[in-house]
Amino acid sequence: MDATVEKATFQLPRRMRGLQPTLIRQFFERALPDSINFGLGEPDLPTPQFLRDEAARIARDEQNGYTSHPGIPALRTKIAEQYPHLNLPMTGVVVTCGSQEAMTDAFMCCIDEGDDVLLPDPSFPAYDACTRIAQGNPVYYRMPADTEFAFDIEEFRSKITPKTKAAVVISPSNPTGKIMTANDYRQIAEALDGTGIWLLSDEIYSDLYFGERPHSASEFYERTIIISGLSKSLSMTGWRLGWAACADPEMINAIQVLHGFTTVCTSTITQKASLLAWSEEAEAAKQYAREVYAQRGKFLVDLFATELGLKATSPEGAFYTMLDVRSIGDDLEVAEKCLQNHVVTVPGVAFGQEAKGFLRISFCNTEEKMTEGVRRMKESLL
Ligand SMILES: Cc1ncc(COP(=O)(O)O)c(C=O)c1O
Repeated sequence: MDATVEKATFQLPRRMRGLQPTLIRQFFERALPDSINFGLGEPDLPTPQFLRDEAARIARDEQNGYTSHPGIPALRTKIAEQYPHLNLPMTGVVVTCGSQEAMTDAFMCCIDEGDDVLLPDPSFPAYDACTRIAQGNPVYYRMPADTEFAFDIEEFRSKITPKTKAAVVISPSNPTGKIMTANDYRQIAEALDGTGIWLLSDEIYSDLYFGERPHSASEFYERTIIISGLSKSLSMTGWRLGWAACADPEMINAIQVLHGFTTVCTSTITQKASLLAWSEEAEAAKQYAREVYAQRGKFLVDLFATELGLKATSPEGAFYTMLDVRSIGDDLEVAEKCLQNHVVTVPGVAFGQEAKGFLRISFCNTEEKMTEGVRRMKESLL
């Protein structure tokens, strides 16, 4: 066989064709030196010292071989206890390499070629990518910009067809910072009742809320796969500790098998140290993060109003707000101008058509940096 001919005819498998890094990453990679980062959703608060010390001790003093594929039992038990309404055994939890792995695994385990998956518009771009990798079709339900991106049951219901295999919800939301209410979930459960549709609930920001603790979709709908982790609430993005939790043994077993073949297990050092993630110290650190981000969100939204005369959505959780730049111009162009003046933002269109005309702004920044960022935005935009 002539090797050059074989090479010339190679095509990526269909599931990989057209997949690109997200616009979030693309803008971040192009940041000029000394940029203010309103772009990435990465906590800037330090990882709590007691977790660092525990991980260092474990690395130094203990042998750290593989764990069982779904994770160490004590950790799975602690995670299962986060969902008392499900009365989950530890076997209902698989510990993964960040919630991103749990998400990809969950999509692969419930979507077949040609299945429709309902995704919020706007939402985290990985859902679209995961749907395509699983060879499903993304179908978007609008979270209308004119109601500050609130959930709309009629819109959701109108997208359900016999081809729908799964639907995604996220609360608190990336990119909008909005939280789904108990009533939203009740309405979803009612709409999905008897359809067999899987609900994939991204709860990675569930510990970062500024009012009442958000509900889990799993309180309302049985066929829910919870996707969550420690990255955001304890500033542990690089530690790679996430999980999938689900009351259905067949589904969680499938996720466990796929996880075993993709990553075997997440870092043993991370898993052991994460046993402290629900200690009193950890709960205090989460509470501190909530207070800091709530304060920063309010500070930034006020600053946008006073300095730029622009409205941003009021954050209810996570660390994002959506800045309405429709009076200035196209969001891609506005984000580009900001980038050239050393401010990284993300154009709304990165998250879906509904967010066109908005910038997603992350407030993982000190007030001093945010003030400088808004000053630079004013200089480049007004
Ligand atoms: C909505 C959402 N889900 C999941 C993730 C993945 O986070 P991790 O894999 O660090 O848990 C992110 C990270 O930015 C996110 O914003």
